[in-house]
Amino acid sequence: MAKEILRSKVNDLLAMPAGQEVLAKGWVRTKRGNKEIAFIALNDGSTIKNIQIVVDKTPETEPVLARISTGACIGVTGTLVESIGSGQAVEIKASGIEIYGECDPVRYPLQKKDTSFEYLRTVAHLRPRTNTFGAIYRLRSQMAFAIHQYFHDKGFVYLNTPLITESDAEGAGQMFQVTTLDLNNVPKNKKNLPDYKQDFFGKMTSLTVSGQLEGELGATAVGEIYTFGPTFRAENSNTPRHLAEFWMIEPEMAFYDIKDNMDLAEDFIKSLVKYALDNCRDDIQFLNDRYDETLIARLEGVIDTEFVRLPYGEGIEILKAAIAAGHKFEYPVDWGTDLQSEHERYLVEEHFKRPVILTDYPKDIKAFYMKQNEDGKTVRAMDVLFPKIGEIIGGSEREADLQKLENRIDELHMKRDNLEWYLDTRRFGSCPHSGFGLGFERLLLFITGMQNIRDVIPFPRTPKNAEF
Ligand code: 4AD
Ligand code: MG
Repeated sequence: MAKEILRSKVNDLLAMPAGQEVLAKGWVRTKRGNKEIAFIALNDGSTIKNIQIVVDKTPETEPVLARISTGACIGVTGTLVESIGSGQAVEIKASGIEIYGECDPVRYPLQKKDTSFEYLRTVAHLRPRTNTFGAIYRLRSQMAFAIHQYFHDKGFVYLNTPLITESDAEGAGQMFQVTTLDLNNVPKNKKNLPDYKQDFFGKMTSLTVSGQLEGELGATAVGEIYTFGPTFRAENSNTPRHLAEFWMIEPEMAFYDIKDNMDLAEDFIKSLVKYALDNCRDDIQFLNDRYDETLIARLEGVIDTEFVRLPYGEGIEILKAAIAAGHKFEYPVDWGTDLQSEHERYLVEEHFKRPVILTDYPKDIKAFYMKQNEDGKTVRAMDVLFPKIGEIIGGSEREADLQKLENRIDELHMKRDNLEWYLDTRRFGSCPHSGFGLGFERLLLFITGMQNIRDVIPFPRTPKNAEF
């Protein structure tokens, strides 16, 4: 009986010594050749690289080869041999080919010509099969692993916070409601408003905009936690940097002040970028060569530079000076206004030419939970601003004083009875603490050099777009 050959992944095959019998399975990227020989480039997603399959044309193989075209799924047995062609060390000299799935060359839309990212977003089965999205999916997965490893090594507890919640953590009113009420026949209460007592949870609930408030309960009990999960925002902003469903990493640490918080944020991002360069080199090299030849230099640059730390007020002065010197922004700048991405990018890309951590924002443009500064006007917030992205991290030291926190909630006319469970952390053994949120897709935008946030998540959710 012939010895059964186990399937090897392309990534492993390319590193194996020549001479052995192998079995490869994957999807055909290209098929070319001449009268005597066919060359098939096979990819199985384990690496950006293909393995070359060499098939002698014989009366036996020709009918099989005729059924193989770009996109077809095949299995190939053969001998791994040293390759004489350039570009690869080894190739497979085929002795047998099995076709799992043919791919109609007339109807298959991924022919050799380039297809735009916009187009690829509309074809669910096609996008993942391209070199670019294979690279992005692998990078995304590697970075998720790197994030868990980073916090695991520091002894942080991975805390799972709920996706369905009653509270609006950011107080920005951008929540997607969750209900089982019949929208065609909503039960009403005495005030003729929807009667949420009859809803699944007995109250009005939504998808979470942040796990922070629950994260604070964790941190003020076990010390250091992080969350990493889907986050939802119904902000109607159709920009290359916003998703309605994105992933956020939110570390929260007892006994950290704002400086400790900044130190962690800076070290965290640098470690992740370094991880990508050290462990995902082939995919990053591909993206660098294909789309953006400054990508690798930009990533290396971030690891080596100290981030600027600057109070918001000084940032505003720099922006005003730029305007006075003739720089044009679309949006006005004045103390008290929220910075637009164009302002953030001016500070990072043109003024300082490195990442900037902006601190001490006006309290009126930040969330209720941030620690209030002595000046009565600003809070101990920190935003990390990055080249090409703008805000990549938002965080703060938290207000630990019950009275001040309650006053702020009242000032903002927020409903306190939804937050009593949270305020209890300040009632019972309150402690100084801080935390931040990193947008996973914003990080991936930076690491991949992609231009649009829709292209760093497998299934983007944006206004008017939730297909597949
Ligand atoms: O600045 P944000 O709103 O901060 C918070 O949610 C805090 N609760 C975090 C904390 O302190 N624990 O969001 C944090 C980060 C942003 O800096 C950005 O990177 C990302 O989340 N983000 C988005 N990413 C994609 N699409 C959106 N619509 C995003 N909104 C925020
Ligand atoms: Mg923010």
